[in-house]
Amino acid sequence: MRNKVVNEEGQLLIGGVPAKQLAEEYGTPLFVYDVGQIRENARAFVKAFEDLGVQAQVAYASKAFSSIAMIQVADQEGMSLDVVSEGELHTALAAGFPVEKIHMHGNNKSIRELEMAVENDIGCIVVDNFYEIDLLTTILEEQNKSVNVLMRVTPGIEAHTHDYILTGQEDSKFGFDLSNGQAEEAFLKMNDQPCFQVLGLHCHIGSQIFETVGFEMASQKLFATLVEWRAKFDYTARVLNLGGGFGIQYKSQDTPLELSEYANSLMDEIKRLSSSENYPLPEIWIEPGRSIVGEAGTTLYTVGSIKDIPGVRTYVSVDGGMTDNIRPALYGAEYEAVLPEKMNDQKERTYSIAGKCCESGDMLIWDMELPKIEHGDLLAVYSTGAYGYAMANHYNRFQKPAVVFVEEGKHQLVVRREAYQELTRLDLSYEQ
Ligand code: LLP
Repeated sequence: MRNKVVNEEGQLLIGGVPAKQLAEEYGTPLFVYDVGQIRENARAFVKAFEDLGVQAQVAYASKAFSSIAMIQVADQEGMSLDVVSEGELHTALAAGFPVEKIHMHGNNKSIRELEMAVENDIGCIVVDNFYEIDLLTTILEEQNKSVNVLMRVTPGIEAHTHDYILTGQEDSKFGFDLSNGQAEEAFLKMNDQPCFQVLGLHCHIGSQIFETVGFEMASQKLFATLVEWRAKFDYTARVLNLGGGFGIQYKSQDTPLELSEYANSLMDEIKRLSSSENYPLPEIWIEPGRSIVGEAGTTLYTVGSIKDIPGVRTYVSVDGGMTDNIRPALYGAEYEAVLPEKMNDQKERTYSIAGKCCESGDMLIWDMELPKIEHGDLLAVYSTGAYGYAMANHYNRFQKPAVVFVEEGKHQLVVRREAYQELTRLDLSYEQ
């Protein structure tokens, strides 16, 4: 949304194309991605590490938005890929993504998921728990293979977006605890077996983080562990993966750092630790999802009914809602909207934007100043590119929207709109 572009007629342009034209051609609700912006975001991270002369991998966390076209763009931009399920891995393979650059996550990977990862020789499995070590050992023996692994650890730092809490006792379903010896036990279990190449450690401290202090604290914790393991086990890690979580702008008052700033300050701390401990600088891996696609995505809706409760509120209902963006209902997430055909009109009233699901909680935006809204107006909600389509659902049997990529004035359908007939494709009749 920071790159809002309006033409002389007061129309919103996305990737050089009027939003109105996209809505007419593809219908609404519609997810529109400005591919130029996705590329810019990816390049900001990749370039920041290159400029610092640091060996790094920037893996796109495909949970934020996974589709064949998106994964192809991630590949074109030289990113690696983080997948967390059979479905995300399948999508990556269908997109032809280089297997050696795929990393697999998950706190309860199934046997099938692990087999699929090993069969396809993916680049790295981020091992999360003891059960997974046992499953993986069996699968590697059966397939007579070995695999690169990172160990996911919980550093005991919890990021609540603006503040960081150091928890003495880790309380998370993810990863091995650093504080109670479990991480060390898991490391020894894998490091003893030739079928595991333990590349190093991984952590992910949270999401939509606006400061660098949490990443610095996590780096310190992980480094301290590595230094200890070097002394005890003569082990030197090749990789340190600090996960994702870099914050983006949802509302005008949000002021996230530039993406390169996250990378720069992270590296300052890691370089400092590496030289003070005389520890060879590891490769740095990160896994941004939201910061790659979030601001690049906009959802277009058409306004339907308008209910005015004098002195209370005006509800404006659109043709989507919690089925394409569950974040306001689930997390209280806040968004901003514009009227793409009235970009230069004066804001004159306060409106609340409602979805069309049979549920009072189906609200997209509460109390926002906008120009006068009429039935049939186009409404655009900004910064919906991450965890929007990815978390879309079929509540009330709504079809999933279409997704369009726009770049340099050209537009292309990359996920087609679901037809209502497809909603019953898995249903079987009940024979009495
Ligand atoms: N790496 C790991 C291990 C993760 O668990 C996540 C996100 C990421 C990377 C990417 O984080 P990002 O850069 O996108 O913040 N549905 C929630 C977000 C859940 C994030 C889960 N893990 C939302 O809509 O805000």
